[in-house]
Amino acid sequence: MKFTFTAIILLILIVLFGCAEAVEQQTRDIITLKQGWQFQKGTHPEAVNPSFNDSQWESVTVPHDWAIYGPFDKDIDKQEVAIIQNFEAVATEKTGRTGALPYIGEAWYRNTFSLPNFDNTKQVLIQFDGAMSEPEVFINGEKVGEWKYGYAYFYFDISNVVKAENNSIVVKLNNHEQSSRWYPGAGLYRNVKVIVKNKESIEHWGTFITTPIITQELAKVNIKTKVIANNPKLITTIFDAEGSEIVQHETTTPFNNEFDQNLEVPNPKLWSPDTPYLYTAVTRLYSGNNLKDEIRTKFGIRSINYDRNTGFSLNGEVTKFKGVCLHHDLGPLGAAINISALRRQLTILKDLGVNAIRSSHNMPSLEQLALCDEMGFMLLAESFDEWKIPKVKNGYNLYFDDYAEKDIVNLVHATRNHPSIVMWSSGNEVPDQWGTEGVKRAKWLQDIFHREDPSRPVTVGMDQVKAIMESGFGAITDIPGLNYRVHLYEEAYERFPQGMILGSETASTVSSRGIYKFPVEKASMKQYEDLQSSSYDLEYCSWSNLPEDDFILQDDKPWVIGEFVWTGFDYLGEPTPYDEFWPSRSSYFGIADLAGLPKDRYYLYRSRWNTKEPTLHILPHWNWEGREGEITPVFVYTNYNSAELFLNGKSLGIQTKNKNGTPQERYRLMWMDVKYEPGTLKVVALDDGGNPAAGKVIKTAGEPHTIVLEPDVNIIKANGEDLAFVTVSVVDENGIPCPTATNQLNFEITGNGTFRAACNGDATSLEMFHLATMKLFSGKLVVLVQSTEVAGDIQLTVTGEGLLTATLNLLSEN
Ligand code: GAL
Repeated sequence: MKFTFTAIILLILIVLFGCAEAVEQQTRDIITLKQGWQFQKGTHPEAVNPSFNDSQWESVTVPHDWAIYGPFDKDIDKQEVAIIQNFEAVATEKTGRTGALPYIGEAWYRNTFSLPNFDNTKQVLIQFDGAMSEPEVFINGEKVGEWKYGYAYFYFDISNVVKAENNSIVVKLNNHEQSSRWYPGAGLYRNVKVIVKNKESIEHWGTFITTPIITQELAKVNIKTKVIANNPKLITTIFDAEGSEIVQHETTTPFNNEFDQNLEVPNPKLWSPDTPYLYTAVTRLYSGNNLKDEIRTKFGIRSINYDRNTGFSLNGEVTKFKGVCLHHDLGPLGAAINISALRRQLTILKDLGVNAIRSSHNMPSLEQLALCDEMGFMLLAESFDEWKIPKVKNGYNLYFDDYAEKDIVNLVHATRNHPSIVMWSSGNEVPDQWGTEGVKRAKWLQDIFHREDPSRPVTVGMDQVKAIMESGFGAITDIPGLNYRVHLYEEAYERFPQGMILGSETASTVSSRGIYKFPVEKASMKQYEDLQSSSYDLEYCSWSNLPEDDFILQDDKPWVIGEFVWTGFDYLGEPTPYDEFWPSRSSYFGIADLAGLPKDRYYLYRSRWNTKEPTLHILPHWNWEGREGEITPVFVYTNYNSAELFLNGKSLGIQTKNKNGTPQERYRLMWMDVKYEPGTLKVVALDDGGNPAAGKVIKTAGEPHTIVLEPDVNIIKANGEDLAFVTVSVVDENGIPCPTATNQLNFEITGNGTFRAACNGDATSLEMFHLATMKLFSGKLVVLVQSTEVAGDIQLTVTGEGLLTATLNLLSEN
């Protein structure tokens, strides 16, 4: 082969350029410690010693939740308390309040790690994205730090105690009884990362990107970067989502240790829930001409504005929050963070039409934030459920004085570049709403948020509305957030100066998927012998309300800027209205159940929130053996205004939404006098001209006959973490779904996958999630199939006595 001179020069340049790239990529290493952990419950101070023999301990991967494997036990964290927030005056025994899972006590984790590229020019940090709770961290036998709050992100500088090879890390955790009002999880349930960078480098969480000016023609992107370097030079380049370079800026002039750069992005593509467009800023720090550090930060260009006359606007458009509150647990996975489980939640919420999430009542996971940026959800990022005055005796009140400021600073620094976050929350229903000390605390916390991030406002979820109107607590809060208390919205709006009210927490309607109770009537704190709540969606709590009470305020009062429904998904713990009953260990509040399966209410919200696709849903199911001839009302949740109902071909008349009727008549179509007879129930939705526009049919099913498997995805990543969620149901011999089936099913997985968990959404079930057998609940359950690190085929086989077996083929890919 003959090389011309130019070709040789070109080759040399490519090699040189290639090398330069390789060097640049080595400015930082981020090592996520997932594999190789040894775990043991109990007290093991001797385990701090690096030569401690932990071979008898359990081998686990992190993220890990030690308590989710149960068993459920009524006596765990049994509390003899009066829940003041629920208006209780007398203490009674509460059993499933924290999920009845064994989360209490001490536990220890051990691992080792090596640091390629380590020498004494390096700074080494260890970051925990959350550790439940009271973590104490030991490296090579030395304590390097401790934290308290299980939801906080925190890091320590461990440069002085590490070496290149074989570092020992030991983490001690401790959970107290009565430390939570829901299931908090237990262990290293979020990621642990070791960051190796030059001592001359960009400070950890030292970048802050805002987009203070946006027009159609340009956006001003302001990037503040804190550095430690001699003779520093900073070059920042912005790339669009396709990876094309947009603009670059170079500066050698820091102010103190902070660079302040302004870059112009022409014709910016704006970030919003509908168009979640992300840019990337690549920031390179040089000392003289030597590259010292490089970080990449995704960001969005978007404006948020809270105005006393127009409410909340995103990119100049008045926008209402169609939001849900979410606790952090992922149902059968417990608190252990998992990206595919989070992605599935968000996919379901997208279909529901949700545009915002409140991370109640604590810091959201970093994985959830990245997904919200990417998939398009706004975030109300919350911090605390308690300040100084306790709700539960071992709650955050124990740490408030020493940690509140540090926890907020870390929350803001770690997450402020996410365009999804549009508001902070400093607290939820804190008892400090009473009294002047509480007002001072509210102001102090809000000022910390403002100091760290002047670009977003702060709210508090407030339930003591009378008190906060009197004390000034509500008036000084940037955005007054009311939890429930729909009857006080008007008065609060009149009395507060902000000109708007946020429904920071709404509804708390309770229901069990697929369970219907008769007679059908509105009721507060209604209890039944089977410890379920009716899916006719007419049952609520003594402090809460039905969805329509919120809809009316949202629709009729322009100054109400949106709502966050309690909750998007059921969660472990807080089994109201059965706090005092056993077995009952998870919530009934969800729009979807603990397995992520939609309840009927899903379609009521979807009919309002999903403006892109029609909704037409009938309830109840039509299997009422024994109720022949009895009144069995039929509800239809739909975006259409009216519909005609047919039972076995006979019209039962047309119903039309009635703005002047009861709240339910305004938003639901209801046939209250239907007498049950088995067969076919059909609804035909009518357009505004009275013409048939859509139809839906449900039928009475015969005996369960065949198992049906429906995965949410067919291909997963071969990374040992990715999951497919397979909905399992049964149909009769004619293929009609059996809505009341309770068959015990067994799961077997072969090939390159493993069984991770199963969940049926029954709040009273004591079956363990990680065992490969479970009963159907209202005809359904979900099986979680996990990849291994080897790509290939995976088969899930589900069997049940007397049922036709089903097998599903999935694929895992690199
Ligand atoms: C609220 C509280 C939530 C949850 C909910 C249940 O008062 O903020 O955390 O307890 O009630 O309705």
